[in-house]
Amino acid sequence: MRLNTRLLVAVTCGSALCQETFEPTDFNITDALLGYGVDVAALPQLASLVERSSLAGCSIACGSLGLLFGSQLISRNTSAYDQFTTSYWSQQQQEPDPYCIFKPAKREQVSIQVLISRLTQCPFAIKSGGHAAFAGASSIEGGITVSLENFNEITLATDKQSAIIGPGNRWLNVYSTLQESDVVVIGGRVANIGVGGLTLGGGISFFSNIYGWACDNVLNYELVTASGIILDVNERSHPDLYWALRGGGNNFGIVTSFNMKAIPLPDGLMWGGSRTSLQDNTSTTFPALINAFVNLGTEGAFSDPNAAQILSFTSYQGMNLSSAALQYAKPVANPPIFDEYRAIPAIVDTTSIRTLANLTNEFAASNPDGVRETYWAASYKLTVEMTQYVTDVFYEELPTVADAAGIVPAATLQVITVPQIEEMQKRGGNPLGLTPEEGPLLLLNMNVQWNDVADDQRILDFNRRVIERTVAHSKEIGAYDEYLYMNYASQFQDVIGSYGAENKARLVGIAEKYDTTGVFQDLVPGGFKLDGAPASS
Ligand SMILES: Cc1cc2nc3c(=O)[nH]c(=O)nc-3n(C[C@H](O)[C@H](O)[C@H](O)COP(=O)(O)OP(=O)(O)OC[C@H]3O[C@@H](n4cnc5c(N)ncnc54)[C@H](O)[C@@H]3O)c2cc1C
Ligand SMILES: *[C@@H]1O[C@H](CO)[C@@H](O)[C@H](O)[C@H]1NC(C)=O
Ligand SMILES: *[C@@H]1O[C@H](CO)[C@@H](O)[C@H](O)[C@H]1NC(C)=O
Ligand SMILES: *[C@@H]1O[C@H](CO)[C@@H](O)[C@H](O)[C@H]1NC(C)=O
Ligand SMILES: *[C@@H]1O[C@H](CO)[C@@H](O)[C@H](O)[C@H]1NC(C)=O
Ligand SMILES: *[C@@H]1O[C@H](CO)[C@@H](O)[C@H](O)[C@H]1NC(C)=O
Repeated sequence: MRLNTRLLVAVTCGSALCQETFEPTDFNITDALLGYGVDVAALPQLASLVERSSLAGCSIACGSLGLLFGSQLISRNTSAYDQFTTSYWSQQQQEPDPYCIFKPAKREQVSIQVLISRLTQCPFAIKSGGHAAFAGASSIEGGITVSLENFNEITLATDKQSAIIGPGNRWLNVYSTLQESDVVVIGGRVANIGVGGLTLGGGISFFSNIYGWACDNVLNYELVTASGIILDVNERSHPDLYWALRGGGNNFGIVTSFNMKAIPLPDGLMWGGSRTSLQDNTSTTFPALINAFVNLGTEGAFSDPNAAQILSFTSYQGMNLSSAALQYAKPVANPPIFDEYRAIPAIVDTTSIRTLANLTNEFAASNPDGVRETYWAASYKLTVEMTQYVTDVFYEELPTVADAAGIVPAATLQVITVPQIEEMQKRGGNPLGLTPEEGPLLLLNMNVQWNDVADDQRILDFNRRVIERTVAHSKEIGAYDEYLYMNYASQFQDVIGSYGAENKARLVGIAEKYDTTGVFQDLVPGGFKLDGAPASS
């Protein structure tokens, strides 16, 4: 059921010019709910709100959703509640206590929840796979956590050119299902990551050097807007919103399905794994790895785009270790493009021909649930000097936290290659603000896991120092790039601001058009908002 099209477009006139907005100024939430079959007057607590649309809060919102949807609403002090709140990846995201958890199963139920939240002014969080690291990104204290887990559709089109993928899926089920039809979509590289967050923030895949990021391979978004209206958003229908959703996060609505371009991958087979190397204080292993990494990220990205890489530096029991995760988009053993890497001694090598699903399971093993986590992002021009500098600063700062219980510190390096940025320009482009001329970029993801709350502050400080020192150096040597990757950024980083002033202004304008009263800014406080870093807002 869709709302009366009379509500679709209105024209508001300021002093100088008239601007098209999506929602009329006299939009009536109770009428809109009636359009979805919900008679507010028949819901005891909501009835008192008909006249004054405010203040009564989450007790009324949760109570009404419970009356309407029964067991799809989970209340505090139940085992289902505890099971849900402990299911996030990071311990920090497990800490907020929502007033209730709502698990819609149909898109119209999402519309009803959004409208009830507006009527009661009850804030909410949107959760897909729950792998954002910091508290509140997809969890909320005192509000409604909307879990999209029931949106788990995976439907391949009969022509095998595209697939509808629900945001309740994790990448492992997506790949396992699609491999039976010899295709894949552009998505995450670790089994349990959610489709929703990864795709709305960007989405780097093993195949990105050929096809681009996940956000650039979405053909259509089905979106529930602030007015509860369900839209198909694509290159022709609402192209402004289509551009915004390709990296704009949760600022424009709740995505209830993604139609993604499907790519052939017979039997899901490819090649990949990790090579772990040890650096002692005299060896040349790390400099050699850095050379291999930079070469593959520059010329290598053009000479054989099937190749992908992730180079991590870490420390384990006082040893300096690196892990080069290498992948090839075809089931070819030891492809020559990796010869430079293979010449560097490794103490463990798991590379083999295997399925994509199998590879995502291997990478999941090193990312357990339920411990404390922080992720930070930075970008620089890709050079050997800059890459070596980032690595050196990571090891220089590490002693300040090396004794923290359960610490697994890592500086994870990737390249945003020129072919990846070229793919971003297709179908109207995306808001990330990257141009092929500024690439290739070195993308740093500082990521640390640990056990004790008592160590939070010094571990955050450690990450901040690595970012600040390397960014300062990059400015001195002309290697600075302002882009912050949403899916790796910390709560202290202003992601949308990093897209550039022009793109930010355009995103703000699109948000004002489709969400005139700012529902996804004010009532959805978690994640990366349009107006700055999460922790300062
Ligand atoms: C172990 C691990 C491996 C990773 N691997 C990769 C990788 O290979 N490539 C990569 O690019 N990134 C990777 N990431 C980063 C990952 O993309 C982010 O953590 C991402 O936020 C996870 O998405 P999620 O749906 O699991 O998280 P969630 O915490 O559920 O969501 C993240 C954000 O997106 C919003 N959101 C989610 N779904 C919707 C929706 N349907 N509508 C509106 N808003 C929504 C949420 O409100 C939240 O703010 C990895 C992260 C981890 C922890
Ligand atoms: C919305 O419409 C209902 C009737 O459908 C009316 O009773 C109510 O006063 C209206 N609310 C506002 C805020 O205008
Ligand atoms: C009920 O749950 C809330 C939130 O999780 C908690 O603060 C409260 O102590 C619980 N009450 C009981 C009786 O367990
Ligand atoms: C690890 O790297 C740091 C910084 O380069 C160095 O000081 C330290 O000696 C190295 N440790 C080992 C065991 O080589
Ligand atoms: C390397 O480290 C070992 C053990 O820590 C030490 O004995 C040796 O002197 C170091 N070598 C150099 C060149 O620093
Ligand atoms: C991947 O496949 C290999 C070989 O078939 C198998 O031994 C291994 O258990 C699988 N690993 C995972 C994580 O599924």
